[in-house]
Amino acid sequence: MERTLTASSDSRAAGGPLPSVRLVGVTKRFGDVVAVDHVSIDIARGEFFTLLGPSGCGKTTTLRLIAGFEEPTEGTILVDGVDMEGVPAFRRPPNTVFQSYALFPHLSVEENVAFGLRRKGVDKKEIARRVGEELELVGLAGERKRKPRQLSGGQQQRVALARALVNRPAVLLLDEPLGALDLKLRKNLQVELKRIQREVGITFVYVTHDQEEALTMSDRIAVMNRGVVEQCDTPEAVYDRPRTTFVAGFIGVSNLMPGVVVSANGGPARVRLDSGVEATAQADGLRSGERCWAVVRPEKLTLLSADEPAPPDRPSVRGLVESSLYLGTATQFVVRLPDGVTMTVLVPNVDEEARRRLPGAGDDVRLSWATQHMHVVREEGSRVGEGAATSGDGQRAQAPGDSAGPAEPALTEEGK
Ligand SMILES: Nc1ncnc2c1ncn2[C@@H]1O[C@H](COP(=O)(O)OP(=O)(O)OP(=O)(O)O)[C@@H](O)[C@H]1O
Ligand SMILES: [Mg+2]
Repeated sequence: MERTLTASSDSRAAGGPLPSVRLVGVTKRFGDVVAVDHVSIDIARGEFFTLLGPSGCGKTTTLRLIAGFEEPTEGTILVDGVDMEGVPAFRRPPNTVFQSYALFPHLSVEENVAFGLRRKGVDKKEIARRVGEELELVGLAGERKRKPRQLSGGQQQRVALARALVNRPAVLLLDEPLGALDLKLRKNLQVELKRIQREVGITFVYVTHDQEEALTMSDRIAVMNRGVVEQCDTPEAVYDRPRTTFVAGFIGVSNLMPGVVVSANGGPARVRLDSGVEATAQADGLRSGERCWAVVRPEKLTLLSADEPAPPDRPSVRGLVESSLYLGTATQFVVRLPDGVTMTVLVPNVDEEARRRLPGAGDDVRLSWATQHMHVVREEGSRVGEGAATSGDGQRAQAPGDSAGPAEPALTEEGK
């Protein structure tokens, strides 16, 4: 799948299909506020493309610019190769689904879905057929005669979706469509939405501030911060190979170890961590002498006892276990390194016997990882305060947006 998506840029060069939506140097200012800052992205036809970022980073504004509810201050927006400048919203190909469902309360489910087609003067039989099809698709065929107030939030959102899909727009813009729903319903609808998108093959431009939602649903994710797209990549790439500390901190739980690049020549770099360890790591365009952050995801770290040597090909660092937390499928450890940085480690719970051998709070341990799992990002532009991670006050290095902290809330604190 990735190949067909990333192929868009290659195939374009070869005269292949145009991107579905294209933003070229798009900036939107509201007075002094730069809501969207020189954003350039190509969204392929049929792609599930997500704009992800914290509140106020410019997601909704980007969507409204594509929809035509706002005009860019600078830059160009093309839909199917056509410049949208001056084209009013109602004449643009994309349709929009918002967080609030905005259904007509006095109309039934099927009348709500049929509304747009009626206005367009589509033939009655054709309307009945298409509305029936859409309600089938979103799983509401049995509720066609009900009024919106007789439906749950999730069902209402499906009606809103069916109403947008019935026009078979080339592009569907969705602004936190599941935001108002409770967690369980949201999870169900995530799967549903993804299935529907696959079935209809329409380009989805989806807005969310929920990183897990973005990772599960998207073909590609644009991670936004203060109006800027910091990284635009597949879910795997933004998770495994974050390009900035912001991305590393916003997506998943990150362990950020401060250090300096000792040598780099295009490929993997040699870094000296402030904890005293030297290691080889993956790096993109870093230079010798630059300050950097080394990122290793919690599940990629191996926990050894202090006297257990790490395999020769794996770097390792000593640490002290501060806490351990039983999470059901895994046990989560917080380990403090010699330079005061704390690291989160996730050890899958395989069997009782292995669990009994795990260390507890106060134990000396060694953390080790494979070279390919350590990724280095530049300190500059990271907006992480100088020395934030080296203050030795027990705070872990924290990028902005890394507010979620360790994974899921714990079930029980392990009493070790
Ligand atoms: N009409 C407007 N007038 C002035 N400022 C605006 C306007 N619309 C958005 N902004 C500002 O632009 C920035 C981006 O807003 P936007 O609504 O795009 O953020 P968002 O990423 O959708 O956030 P959220 O997750 O909270 O919905 C914010 O600082 C916001 O205050
Ligand atoms: Mg918004």
